[in-house]
Amino acid sequence: MPLPSSVTVHAPATIANVGCGFDVLGLCLTAPYDTVRLTRRDQPGLIIRHLDDYDLPTDPNRNVAGAALLALLREVDEPLGFEVEITKGIRPGSGIGSSAASAAGAVVAANALLGNPFDNKKLVDLAMYGEAVASGVRHADNIAPAICGGFTLVRAVLPVLDVVALPAPPLWVAVVHPQFEVKTREARAVLPTQVPLALAVRQWANVGGLVAGFLTHDNELISRALEDYIVEPARAALLPGLGDARKRALAAGALGGGISGSGPSIFMLNHDEATAHAAAEAMGSVYRKMGIAFHLHVGPIASEGARVVATE
Ligand code: HSE
Repeated sequence: MPLPSSVTVHAPATIANVGCGFDVLGLCLTAPYDTVRLTRRDQPGLIIRHLDDYDLPTDPNRNVAGAALLALLREVDEPLGFEVEITKGIRPGSGIGSSAASAAGAVVAANALLGNPFDNKKLVDLAMYGEAVASGVRHADNIAPAICGGFTLVRAVLPVLDVVALPAPPLWVAVVHPQFEVKTREARAVLPTQVPLALAVRQWANVGGLVAGFLTHDNELISRALEDYIVEPARAALLPGLGDARKRALAAGALGGGISGSGPSIFMLNHDEATAHAAAEAMGSVYRKMGIAFHLHVGPIASEGARVVATE
């Protein structure tokens, strides 16, 4: 079959950290998503257009999809380029993996245009160049679920990327996205550079507990393990309403949750759809009272990551 000349991908939002797993755990959502359309050019280079109102850079070296595609093109032994059209469905700076989605969508689309020479692990590795543009760090906790779907553990980034992709647990996610921006760079700048051993022990016990809970579908264990002793306390001051939103969501029946990525979105995991809607409403009511506009997202954990939706 001839290769397509144009490919369109939907690249979903993701939740990084998932409470206790700073920079290592991630979950894939079904929505919102970015739409990335790539068209093959026979000359080298990238032409990037944003079909949205976010005024993001279109210089390939400063654009998250551009940086990821430049890394991919360095691996391809032919003079090739792409026209890239990006429509952001995920607001930048929302804490639900906006930059990761565009980078993941771009490399998944390029891979399809080239006849799928790269496996998911390589695509995660390439898309991380986009994260470096956005936050200064090549972290994969949003990229991995955006590409692999489900629930992912990034066991190592260096010296060799080691991503463990696990099936999506049958849980529902509630997200509140208050409409203020927290820049990942700034949210990383407030983090401690050293952690007392006693806290580290509690934290990695929770990471193990959460992974075990997801694999065995043990919701009580998941609930106990959804606590972050290190990163959330340092970032809480950047997120007005966090404590109240959590309290209300738990009262509505959520299993637990916390800051989504570096915020400002807050996520809660729930055992069913009705509870997820109740938890989302409960969190929304906190921001309504504070006079802060917000968006709610409710959906299952997605089993599939960025996917091709059209080829020409
Ligand atoms: N793990 C990252 C952080 C995710 O919390 O800073 C944000 O992109």
